[in-house]
Amino acid sequence: MSATLSGKRILLIIAGGIAAYKSLDLIRRLRERGAAVRCILTKAGAEFVTPLSVSALSGDKVYGELFSLTDEAEMGHIQLSRDADLLVVAPATADILARMAAGLAHDLATTALLATDKPVLAAPAMNVRMWNHPATQRNLAQLKADGVRFVGPNDGDMACGEYGPGRMAEPLEIVAAIEAQFDGADLPLKGIKALVTSGPTHEAIDPVRYIANRSSGKQGHAIAGALARLGADTVLVSGPTHEPDPAGARIVRVESARDMLAACEAALPLDVVVCAAAVADWRVANEAAQKLKKQDGKPLPSLTLAENPDILASLSQRKKGRPRLVIGFAAETEKLLENAKAKRARKGCDWILANDVSPGTGTFGGTRNTVHLLAGDSFEDWPTASKEEVADRLAHRIAAALNGGVQ
Ligand code: PMT
Repeated sequence: MSATLSGKRILLIIAGGIAAYKSLDLIRRLRERGAAVRCILTKAGAEFVTPLSVSALSGDKVYGELFSLTDEAEMGHIQLSRDADLLVVAPATADILARMAAGLAHDLATTALLATDKPVLAAPAMNVRMWNHPATQRNLAQLKADGVRFVGPNDGDMACGEYGPGRMAEPLEIVAAIEAQFDGADLPLKGIKALVTSGPTHEAIDPVRYIANRSSGKQGHAIAGALARLGADTVLVSGPTHEPDPAGARIVRVESARDMLAACEAALPLDVVVCAAAVADWRVANEAAQKLKKQDGKPLPSLTLAENPDILASLSQRKKGRPRLVIGFAAETEKLLENAKAKRARKGCDWILANDVSPGTGTFGGTRNTVHLLAGDSFEDWPTASKEEVADRLAHRIAAALNGGVQ
């Protein structure tokens, strides 16, 4: 028996890969520790292990058909995932990961995964080339952003004769990941309050027009998701974007820089702040109450600008209740590192991530970013990576710093 797993209800989805044989042992290990295991065996999974073995080991019937009248009468497909404390996909093949990432629901396994509001842990298992394929890596990034957790894959000899990452984690490693999921032991930011700003701000000219910029919110949203995945109690203060809400973060939607500052101050006290938003430096001083009219023969309207509050500087320079770690971005089109260094000094933040936003880099609105982290006296050049990877790396770096590691 394990205090962590005793009485926990796990819905194990066994997809079609050679590693399915290890899932039989996984069922045994989980039940030894007092967990109740209910299984969905996909059609392809049943090519590798039999429903009879799965049923004998789990001590329960095995679910397989989406359109089974008897299954639906006993336990509806929605109820299956609702009744569980955790969904585990093992082996998680390239195919089921792709279908999860796309939100497909054409069999019982994917329907249960789409219908669930419970945490999902996946143990990938596939050929090394399939694992390394950009499509699989894209799907993984999407699933991580959706809040799915992963254990493995491990490096090693594969059934197909190749060597590399792709072997499913061993049953006891999966058990450890499940236990960690329940007791939060692998969440280095548990108990930490984090705030991320993201997206552009809109500064009204009149009730229908505004000044804005090209920020999509992709980078900031990815950072909020990554911090939440590491256990931080995360607030995302977002300007207007079309990005989906990152799993696990509380979203506060704002329009203008002044609204954004008010939302950030309302979220205090905080341990860590990441200002990834592209906040407008100026707003229109004389915002019109009514729509400005085009008037033939009259002079063109002129806009007078007023300076917006600087959110990063104001949080960094708080005398009382300053967050322990304040991180800014520097979006530059020239003299990247020089300007970023000066910006960190001027605003008073602890770290700054410099990124080149010149035309042609695709940083604004794109899916990838090349950042340089100024955390001490010199810059660390991070490799160009997806915005999710940049976010994961930053989140782990934050966890190391807050837990007493390098600053
Ligand atoms: O949103 P994406 O399309 O994914 O693009 C990501 C990004 C390029 C927007 C992001 O990586 C980024 O660089 N964000 C900061 C953009 C910016 O406004 O940079 P800045 O150099 O003008 O500002 C420096 C820092 O001060 C930033 O942390 C900014 O959030 C903050 N700031 C700026 C002005 C202001 N009034 N208040 C602020 O808090």
